[in-house]
This record gives sequence, structure tokens and C-alpha cells, in this order.
Amino acid sequence: MTGAPVPADELAGWRQAARIAAGARELGVRLAVPGARRREIAEAIEAFVRERGAEPAFPANLSRNHEAAHYTPDDADEERLNVGDLLKVDVGAHLDGAVADTADTVEVGGGQRHAHLVAAVHEALAAGVRAVRADGPVDDVSRAVAGAIHARGLKPIRDLTGHSIERYVLHAGKAIPNVPGLSSDRFEEGEIVAIEPFATNGEGRIANGPFGHIVRFRRPPPADDAELGRLYGRFRTLPFTGRWVRTPPERAALERGRRLLQTYPVFLERAGGLVAQAEHTVRVGATGAEVLTVAR
Ligand code: CO
Repeated sequence: MTGAPVPADELAGWRQAARIAAGARELGVRLAVPGARRREIAEAIEAFVRERGAEPAFPANLSRNHEAAHYTPDDADEERLNVGDLLKVDVGAHLDGAVADTADTVEVGGGQRHAHLVAAVHEALAAGVRAVRADGPVDDVSRAVAGAIHARGLKPIRDLTGHSIERYVLHAGKAIPNVPGLSSDRFEEGEIVAIEPFATNGEGRIANGPFGHIVRFRRPPPADDAELGRLYGRFRTLPFTGRWVRTPPERAALERGRRLLQTYPVFLERAGGLVAQAEHTVRVGATGAEVLTVAR
């Protein structure tokens, strides 16, 4: 699999999108207090991104406990966070398709019940980032990530992976597994990749849960549907959600375009284990990774 290095003169936009995504991630972590609604946290994260001149690259994912990924609230979601919930805050921002993807995990209420799960993914992310080098094997990162998680007596989730990122493509061709032995790819200088360890006290596999509120266009709509064309122009093939499609004509267009859309199921830990996640978007440099998703 060959990647797509980002030309040096385009890097400023990628760095700016990444700073905004990191700020949004930190905001989400701060807002994850007992009694807070996930819908309100998602709206605050997405407003933060827009106020800084970027667009959300996907709906704020606020998956909790045994939900591993792809939970975003809809307009009707009034459910509140409880003390001890393990909340993943996975956010994305893009500027003209330059995408940043970053995540952290917080134990709601600030207790230490799940501290080992949170520490495991922080350690795995740091180890994974240190293992990135241009021309180096992707498998080095997988081995480092899995090793750090096993050292905490936990399991990496083998069917969720990091990924390369290209303009307007969140999951480009290269996967970065969280267990070794699955990839024979190598990193390329200038590539943008997301390193994304997941740790669990369950089985280390995911199962598809119910279909959630995240969708994306599989392909462009027919040219004669102007309203649907406008929606495609806004989101291209990046994931979006019904919360962002507000006017009756837009909603009707989305209904007409149903067959063009892919709906994401919520991913659940197969054995019902708790799941923690941490993620940075990095640029592959000659001597190692540059972490882009830092807030300042
Ligand atoms: Co990601």
C-alpha cells in the first residue's frame, strides 16, 4: 500500500486543523462530568471546531463503557453521564479536507476505578508514536501498542485500527493494527496517519451493535438533485449526522438519497468489556513522528 505524502506547502492547514481538533478533544474531556448530556457535549465540541474556522471531520463520537466507537447522540438524546462511566471523546476537524482525528478517554467523576485502562491507552499511544519512522514497518507500531496494553494485563482490540489520512479521506488505504503480525506495510515520509490504540478488559474483539446516527455518502448523488448535491458538497465522503441536517428540504433530500448512504453501526466490545481509546494524528518524518494533534 502506498501512501500520499502531504506536500510541505500544504502542511500549515493540516497543522491548524489538528490544533483545533486537539482543543475540541480537551473541551470534551472537561465537559464529561456527572449529569452532563452527551448531546450537549457533542454540540459544544462541534461548535468549538466551527468557531475556529474549521468543520467537524465527523460527528463527535462519545462512546461509553462497552461501546468502543461510533456512538454519536441524536437530537432526542437526553441521557446523562454517570459517575464511573468510561467515556471516549473521539473528535475530528478539517480545513478544506485536511483532516485531523484525535481521541482521549475520561472516567466521569474523576475516580480511579478505570485508571489502568486509561493509563494503558496513554502508554500504548506514546509507545506507538515513538515507533513511527519513515520507511519503517507499520508492524513496529502494532507491536509497541500491543506490548504496552498487555503490560497492563489488558487486551488491545484487534479489529479496530489506526489509519492513514488523505485529503477528504478519513480512513485512507493504510491500516495500523493494534496487534502485531497483521500488516506488511511501511510508513512513508510525509504521510499523515492516526495512531489509535484501544484497550479492553473484555475479549479484544468488537461486535456490531445497533445502527447509530453516523452516515456517509458512498458516492456522489445524481446531478439532477440539487439539494442532495449541496449536502454532498458539504460533507463529500466524510461521516456526518442528522443533527447537522436541519432544514426540511435537506432532510427530504437525505431521505431521497438513502441508498447512497452508509450508516455506521455502534461498535460494542464483544464480551461486554470496558473500552478505553487514545488517538493522535501524526506526520511521518524522517527521524520519527511529529504529533499534530496538540492543543498549542
Ligand atoms: Co481515527
